[in-house]
Amino acid sequence: MVKLFESIAFRGVELSNRIVVSPMGMYSAVNGYVTPFHLVHYGKFAQGGAGLVFVEQTSVTRKGRITNGDPGLWEDGQIDGMRQIVHVIKSGGSKAAIQINHGGRKSSQQRAFRGNSHLTDRDIEMGEETWVPTGPSDVPFSDGFQTPIPLSKDGLVGVRDAFVATARRAMLAGFDVIELHMAHGYLLQSFLSPLANFRTDEYGGSLENRMRFPLEVTRAVRAALPSSTPLFVRISATDWIDGGWEIEDSVVFSRKLKELGVDLVDCSTGGNLRAGSTNANLGRGPGYQVPFAERIRHEADIATGAVGMIRTPDFAEKVLQDGRADLIFLARQMLYNPFWALHAAEHFGLTGNFEQWPEQYGWWLAKWGGALRAKGESLDGMERYREAAE
Ligand SMILES: Cc1cc2nc3c(=O)[nH]c(=O)nc-3n(C[C@H](O)[C@H](O)[C@H](O)COP(=O)(O)O)c2cc1C
Repeated sequence: MVKLFESIAFRGVELSNRIVVSPMGMYSAVNGYVTPFHLVHYGKFAQGGAGLVFVEQTSVTRKGRITNGDPGLWEDGQIDGMRQIVHVIKSGGSKAAIQINHGGRKSSQQRAFRGNSHLTDRDIEMGEETWVPTGPSDVPFSDGFQTPIPLSKDGLVGVRDAFVATARRAMLAGFDVIELHMAHGYLLQSFLSPLANFRTDEYGGSLENRMRFPLEVTRAVRAALPSSTPLFVRISATDWIDGGWEIEDSVVFSRKLKELGVDLVDCSTGGNLRAGSTNANLGRGPGYQVPFAERIRHEADIATGAVGMIRTPDFAEKVLQDGRADLIFLARQMLYNPFWALHAAEHFGLTGNFEQWPEQYGWWLAKWGGALRAKGESLDGMERYREAAE
């Protein structure tokens, strides 16, 4: 049995396979509203056969956006565009998930494709809006980044309520799964890490205190969701920096998340400081974050998602077979090949007659792919199909 293509249920939502399109910011929304680009972008994945397709990190407040191009669900008018995306994703048979986020001290920065750093005078000349971010403490992310305003107690309540309101809007848009972004140095992770949180009140200091605000948000969002709706949390399992957040903290935190009714911990790493940044880590090596998913799965007894440089169907399958994770999240591979899941099914011999492909493509592939198979030839590439037709 190929585990990658075994269905799996979280609460009332059944995924047809274990392949997930990981959340990926496209920095292309306008005032938090999604555009036709997003429909086309997510539409590709809808046809690609993944069990779950994530809509990118979506902001819970206007000033919580990482960049001017982030989508939001901070006002009701933004629901409709998201509803169309959900419709497109589901029309292909996938389930639809959304990651909700507050950028914290990493808010108001450049769109990734314009530099992925702090806003410059040139960005502002080009029309980018800038604002002073908020965070746990008045310590900037890195040189050149703005000094955040520490959130007051009322401010924390406001952010918590914004997460709840956003989750409710996501439900109205029709999403099946909600994920809280507690990774990559954004607001909720920056409360967790001793490298970003220097508060002296009950939200800073000890591990228990640093976990307090992220857990308050989790509790409030869980309470606002129907019991049939799964709640996932993405964490940075380590800061990759001595004296920072460590895997042992992640295990403790994941146990707490489980107690609060979280269904899966999606195990990323880094991003909290430049030295441990996600970009610096993206070249670390195949499956470099899988050991974190494995440890949390076993030690916190909660389902996990593995992500990071998982490229081939065989590698993904082995991670599942070895019991190291429950879902496989793929980001860059999906940009490169939105049909990754369908090709994986082909690789494992599961689409005998291309039944899993959209029927508009499948009949054609069956015709010419069948001819190639009969000759014992590879199906890679359009050239091959053309040859078969001749
Ligand atoms: C273009 C791009 C945008 C991303 N945006 C997000 C995001 O919105 N939220 C998030 O948690 N991770 C984001 N990531 C990280 C990915 O979800 C993933 O964790 C990372 O790329 C490692 O997986 P990969 O090796 O399969 O690409 C992004 C990655 C890329 C390449």
